[in-house]
Amino acid sequence: MAGEMKKDWNTVDSDRRLVLGVAGSARKQGNSATLLEVVLNELRAEFRTETVFLVDCRIEPCQGCHYCEQHGSCKIGDDMPRLWQEMLRADVVILAAPSYMGGLTSRMQAFMERTWPLRKGRLAGKVGGYIVVGRRRIGMATGIMEEYFTRLGMLKLPGVVGYAFEPGQIAKDEEAMRQSRGLAGGVRRALGLADRT
Ligand SMILES: Cc1cc2nc3c(=O)[nH]c(=O)nc-3n(C[C@H](O)[C@H](O)[C@H](O)COP(=O)(O)O)c2cc1C
Repeated sequence: MAGEMKKDWNTVDSDRRLVLGVAGSARKQGNSATLLEVVLNELRAEFRTETVFLVDCRIEPCQGCHYCEQHGSCKIGDDMPRLWQEMLRADVVILAAPSYMGGLTSRMQAFMERTWPLRKGRLAGKVGGYIVVGRRRIGMATGIMEEYFTRLGMLKLPGVVGYAFEPGQIAKDEEAMRQSRGLAGGVRRALGLADRT
């Protein structure tokens, strides 16, 4: 099966809560993935972390057949059922994506629409956060992220917005770096841990 999962093997320990990062850029070392790594790195002392790179996954668009309404599973035989399990196992989900044409990447959008079967409270109470990076005009990207977590009934943390174009440039966006550490602090607070940021 396609789809790389980057695990922090040093901290694999089923007693620790899981923070799942979902990276929606084609660039695995791009700007949004860099900020995601800042957040996850801040949390590794207390949490297990995993990163799913959607570029490694096969995710078809939803066919609108409503099969999942009756059966709780999906007719499309791609990587999404596995990713549903990852979402259900996670205590915290952080989505990271570039802004593309004022929205999100089609990879991230396809992932989001295919989590439709997880609404109706299945992720209720889990913590959600997001990272969006654009060159200048991010358009509706943050609104799409906000609406997503609302639809799933998740506890929403303030998102991170960064500005950069070429990979690596995000390191110069000090505000985005600060917000990313702040997102990690928000995760800690939401889960009742002391904030170290
Ligand atoms: C197809 C495409 C569309 C883009 N659309 C936008 C956009 O609407 N607004 C924006 O601010 N940046 C836009 N960008 C720039 C990317 O968001 C920017 O390069 C970002 O840093 C990429 O993140 P990544 O390194 O995580 O892939 C676009 C880039 C591409 C390739």
